[in-house]
Amino acid sequence: MDILSIAGAAYLVAALLFILSLAGLSKHETASQGWVYGVAGMVLALVATIIRVTDAGTATSIIVLVVAVAIGAVIGLWRARVVEMTGMPELIALLHSFVGLAAVLIGWNGHLHGEDNAIHHAEVFIGVFIGAVTFTGSIVAFLKLSARIKSAPMVLPGKNFINVGALVAFVVLTVAYVITPSLGLLIAATVLALVLGWHLVASIGGGDMPVVVSMLNSYSGWAAAASGFLLDNDLLIVTGALVGSSGAYLSYIMCKAMNRSFISVIAGGFGIEAGPSGDVDYGEHREISAEDTAELLADASSVVITPGYGMAVAQAQYPVAELTRILREKGVDVRFGIHPVAGRLPGHMNVLLAEAKVPYDIVLEMDEINDDLADTDVVLVIGANDTVNPAAAEDPGSPIAGMPVLRVWEAKNVVVFKRSMAAGYAGVQNPLFFRENSQMLFGDAKTRVDEIVGALSRVPS
Ligand code: TAP
Repeated sequence: MDILSIAGAAYLVAALLFILSLAGLSKHETASQGWVYGVAGMVLALVATIIRVTDAGTATSIIVLVVAVAIGAVIGLWRARVVEMTGMPELIALLHSFVGLAAVLIGWNGHLHGEDNAIHHAEVFIGVFIGAVTFTGSIVAFLKLSARIKSAPMVLPGKNFINVGALVAFVVLTVAYVITPSLGLLIAATVLALVLGWHLVASIGGGDMPVVVSMLNSYSGWAAAASGFLLDNDLLIVTGALVGSSGAYLSYIMCKAMNRSFISVIAGGFGIEAGPSGDVDYGEHREISAEDTAELLADASSVVITPGYGMAVAQAQYPVAELTRILREKGVDVRFGIHPVAGRLPGHMNVLLAEAKVPYDIVLEMDEINDDLADTDVVLVIGANDTVNPAAAEDPGSPIAGMPVLRVWEAKNVVVFKRSMAAGYAGVQNPLFFRENSQMLFGDAKTRVDEIVGALSRVPS
């Protein structure tokens, strides 16, 4: 067997390992095994690629490959080590932009050095188009997630026509390019796709960003698959299709969890014409101290904690776990209610609570706890905002209308931990803060929970 057939077989094995990896990662119990399969598949794929280049390439191409892999590995290792858990979604968005850019460059290379037949021309055009949409779309997602630009949706007049018009123009340009492949047409398509990617993601509001990130993940997969066709690389085609389809499926599941129309989100907020509802005067809010919160908790027989992004920022999970332990020792029934998009990535809260050793069996999903909230004495909203916003259920004009939320306002008492009256990620005011049964506990969540733990240890049981 020659060396190239061995590399081909290695590609096949790597593709199978990626499939096993995805299967493993879909369950808690098998996730670490899935990770091992994924790493093994990637190492094998890299080795096989190096063999292919060594066999076919010149000394220069081998040097370029080694230098590129070394630089990529160093940057990747460094970023992975320093990234905060709360910064993961923006890092992922940035990585997607690289896949998009790579697809554009490969497409352009295909134009300059590729074969001269209709299928090849279509591959070049489609690859460049998907790649460029992914590139700018991911950059906007990165800018929004890292709060470098506003997360509110950009609503241009006739924005749906802009999107549909751009798609029609792309189809026309593709036909023209397949007939006569000219540089001018490729430049036009690249610019069109760059603008479309920017506009698609800029039009989507903060509340829908989780879906956008997984949708861009899907786009980056299709961009990689298109590059695979151009480079005649089976592994890239299979891997790209795996990423493309699993990303699309994840987006679909998230849309269902948030009661959003999948088509509306992938089409850049199609159908959302209204801006965020204006400033409404909800009246006065009331404040509570950590001491008084401790007393409220000591007198309660049932407590539900609904954490959000602010708990992650404050790293308050450890004192929250300690508070839970103390209350349970006093005989209080403590449970957690986790919203599917609480925090900044799926499963964010579950990971933090598991890290702080909160028992799994008291950590419930939103649907499992929502009906019990009306019978709960105290709900502690720790650094959550959009996920407990009654406007989603009650105000059809709200940008987050229809999104399922934790109905914390039905409880007897609600204490909201946050630093100010500022809006949450979706940029929407929260009427919960002004309800009669709600009180605000201002300050850093970790400091405040620590104070409550201190006060509770002084209260005789
Ligand atoms: P948010 O609505 O973002 O609210 C978090 C709140 O935490 C803020 O109102 C903030 O108020 C408070 N906070 C921040 N730092 C704090 C600190 N050190 N101590 C105390 N409070 C602090 O969070 P959520 O309820 O978890 O909702 C998640 C949002 O993120 C949703 O809109 C969701 O769509 C979006 N999102 C989710 C994901 C996924 S997949 N989960 C990905 C991207 C985006 P102050 O500034 O006043 O303190």
